Amino acid sequence: MKGIFESLEEILLSRRDFLVKLGWGGIISFLIGSAIATVKFFFPRVLFESPARFTVGKPEDYSFGKVNASYKDSHRICVVRKEDGSFFCVSLICTHLGCTANWKPSEGIFHCPCHGSKFDRMGINFAGPAPRPLDRFKLDHTPEGELIVDKSVIYKGIFGMNSDVIYPQSLLKV
Ligand code: FES
Repeated sequence: MKGIFESLEEILLSRRDFLVKLGWGGIISFLIGSAIATVKFFFPRVLFESPARFTVGKPEDYSFGKVNASYKDSHRICVVRKEDGSFFCVSLICTHLGCTANWKPSEGIFHCPCHGSKFDRMGINFAGPAPRPLDRFKLDHTPEGELIVDKSVIYKGIFGMNSDVIYPQSLLKV
């Protein structure tokens, strides 16, 4: 009889031991979770956008009558130098649903890979679902003569309109 009570007592003790450990495990897990949440609070997940103003080299870096796509990946823009030497900065954000259009030098067009919209060298849409021309951003130059793009100033493409005509201020003559 005594043996039965002893083994029952052992079972109860080991059960109590298990519950105590479970309780401590829960408390420790809670504390670790809280600590991680606190650390995450001080280091939030922030989307670091490229700055609104940035330089894109000097005028002499650009050939007449050419589209420069060097800043496509970093800023989603192209800088175009027209035959007369003037510049403009075209946004590569497709006016359909916002994919990034590519410059196709062999065809002389901007082409959106998502749904096939096409834009001529001036950014005017002529095929696909894009409802209007590509936007432009303000292009200026620093006192040191560097070209500077200001993406906070947008010249919105308007259906059927040439941005050269409606936004002469989008053209930079140096
Ligand atoms: S997002 Fe460019 S064609 Fe649809």
